[in-house]
Amino acid sequence: MDTIIQVEGLRKVYGETIAVDGISFHVQEGEIFGMVGPNGAGKTTTIECLEGLRKPDQGKIRVLDMNPARDGKALRKQVGMQLQQSNLPDRMKVWEALDLYASFYPQSTAWQELMAQLGLQEKRNAPFSKLSGGQKQRLFIALALLPQPQLVFLDELTTGLDPQARHIIWDLVREVQARGKTVVLTTHFMEEAERLCDRIAILDHGKIVALDTPANLIRDLGVEEQVVFALDGMLPPGFEKALSGESHIEQQGERVVIHAANGRKVPLVSEVVNLLTQYQVKFRDLHTEQPNLEDVFLNLTGRQMRE
Ligand SMILES: Nc1ncnc2c1ncn2[C@@H]1O[C@H](COP(=O)(O)OP(=O)(O)O)[C@@H](O)[C@H]1O
Ligand SMILES: [Mg+2]
Repeated sequence: MDTIIQVEGLRKVYGETIAVDGISFHVQEGEIFGMVGPNGAGKTTTIECLEGLRKPDQGKIRVLDMNPARDGKALRKQVGMQLQQSNLPDRMKVWEALDLYASFYPQSTAWQELMAQLGLQEKRNAPFSKLSGGQKQRLFIALALLPQPQLVFLDELTTGLDPQARHIIWDLVREVQARGKTVVLTTHFMEEAERLCDRIAILDHGKIVALDTPANLIRDLGVEEQVVFALDGMLPPGFEKALSGESHIEQQGERVVIHAANGRKVPLVSEVVNLLTQYQVKFRDLHTEQPNLEDVFLNLTGRQMRE
């Protein structure tokens, strides 16, 4: 597989703020590559450097064998871009926007088809200002896909969308990939990244703190399963010590989470239930949870990933 994007030592500073702090990564042709991280992590800055919309202070970038800082114009003819902050004139109608954008590209796809695919048919005559957040988002994604690009950048793919619209967008991104295209996206939804991306770079404070497939990132956590239950009050003293092997208990309000390392002799859940019974603790809603990307994120950044 060919490398379609190469980034070596990318750094971008705004005054006192180090937005991107010397990151390196490659994107292979045909993959869905995700960048995740909290607000301010440097995702948009990175993607805009790749698109040639911002100039890096340091580092080397190749996108489709071009240098975005120098060949930005030529590059933007070959890539699709959904910007985090996009806007259109209030009174521009959906079909007018599609028609206008289509005229920018030599080989754009028939926009009528894209409009239908993105469920915008009914809104074709609606002015931009009258669209809901989700409809606007879908229109921007349609505009990004219009040039039939080899490579698509989607910044904050589904921010502001309801769950249903989010699923439509996921399917669409998978379809784009199935047609052999490469997708680079940013999101701050861990579930979205986990389900959609082939590989994920986790960014924090302008640095890549991990980069791998979702499955490998989760495996590297070394956490088997976690036992979760609800409790009124606190666990009795001595409970944590009574657990065998390495384990870790977190309590937030009434929710208790117990993690344990891989390779235990007794399954964590049976031991926890036994101990709870032995200590006569009244618990509710006990269940096990498999670790997910959210846990990886928490572990790496020490922060909860919330909207
Ligand atoms: N044009 C700008 N001028 C000054 N600071 C900026 C600018 N754009 C972004 N930043 C700062 O750079 C950091 C990274 O921002 P950004 O790349 O937008 O992160 P993300 O997309 O991950 O939320 C943040 O601290 C942000 O405030
Ligand atoms: Mg951003």
